[in-house]
Amino acid sequence: MVTLRDGVEMPQLGFGVFQIPPEETQEKVEEALAVGYRHVDTAAAYRNEAGVGAAIAATGVRREDVFVTTKLWNSEQGYDSTLRAFEKSLERLGTGNVDLYLIHWPLPSRDLFLDTWRAFERIQEEGGARSIGVSNFRVEDLERLEREAETRPTVNQIELHPRLQQEELRSWHADHDVATEAWSPLAQGGLLEEGTIETVAAHHDRTPAQAILRWHLQIGNVVIPKSSNPERIRQNFEVFDFELSEDDMAALERLDEGERTGPNPGSFDVA
Ligand SMILES: NC(=O)c1ccc[n+]([C@@H]2O[C@H](COP(=O)([O-])OP(=O)(O)OC[C@H]3O[C@@H](n4cnc5c(N)ncnc54)[C@H](OP(=O)(O)O)[C@@H]3O)[C@@H](O)[C@H]2O)c1
Repeated sequence: MVTLRDGVEMPQLGFGVFQIPPEETQEKVEEALAVGYRHVDTAAAYRNEAGVGAAIAATGVRREDVFVTTKLWNSEQGYDSTLRAFEKSLERLGTGNVDLYLIHWPLPSRDLFLDTWRAFERIQEEGGARSIGVSNFRVEDLERLEREAETRPTVNQIELHPRLQQEELRSWHADHDVATEAWSPLAQGGLLEEGTIETVAAHHDRTPAQAILRWHLQIGNVVIPKSSNPERIRQNFEVFDFELSEDDMAALERLDEGERTGPNPGSFDVA
């Protein structure tokens, strides 16, 4: 568990459902819950919130024992539209509330994230979201919230993996008590045949994915790998019974090349 600045407890490992088709989501989330995951990361844009909620309802795991994150899509930024979009997400999820609500992208050129954030503050005050945060915010976006908003996000969910270690943002988060959550933690599978990672993994008799996830946990990230494969869903959860050494951690740290797999938050502006 990671304790967020507002006291909310968030499981450090979660199950990401980006690109899981809506009609398969319930089944995959049920598999993840059966393995032991207690944290699911969805978004309005993934069109699979209903499957996440249905899985939680079907498994008999208590609602309060599963940490549910969803995100506000870009087209809905703005005060009133955010309030309306949040209600629709809740209806699709059927979970009564969410544990974490995130602004999906900052869209700096539209200049709406401050109004959006004010709606987030209201949603939290009214109990719709236990905690509120942002995603893909750059240091300059976070600084703007610092200057102009009443409250600070508890979480910033950003692309982060050994090829993109986000030192500047991680250090800002640490200084301001904001949790770092890593999306595409496995670089969408693109790092699983990297030589250093293979060597470190073999040394521990683990898979490259497990070695990378362990690196994330040890640097303090919240991490949300996605898999649609039952064996890999299980494998990605089996990361609490071994530890990377200082040398292993240093070897992975040297892989940083500032290389993104996803869009650049400064210019990404899809409606
Ligand atoms: N906030 C944002 O803007 C944002 C953006 C992107 C993602 N996210 C969140 O982050 C989550 C994870 O990111 P992601 O889905 O982009 O990428 P990821 O978790 O880094 O990688 C997923 C890919 O790796 C494969 N994989 C997973 N575990 C594996 C294993 N143990 N061995 C081999 N291959 C494995 C998966 O294939 P199989 O399914 O075939 O196993 C899939 O192709 C998303 O689901 C979403 O919740 C957020």
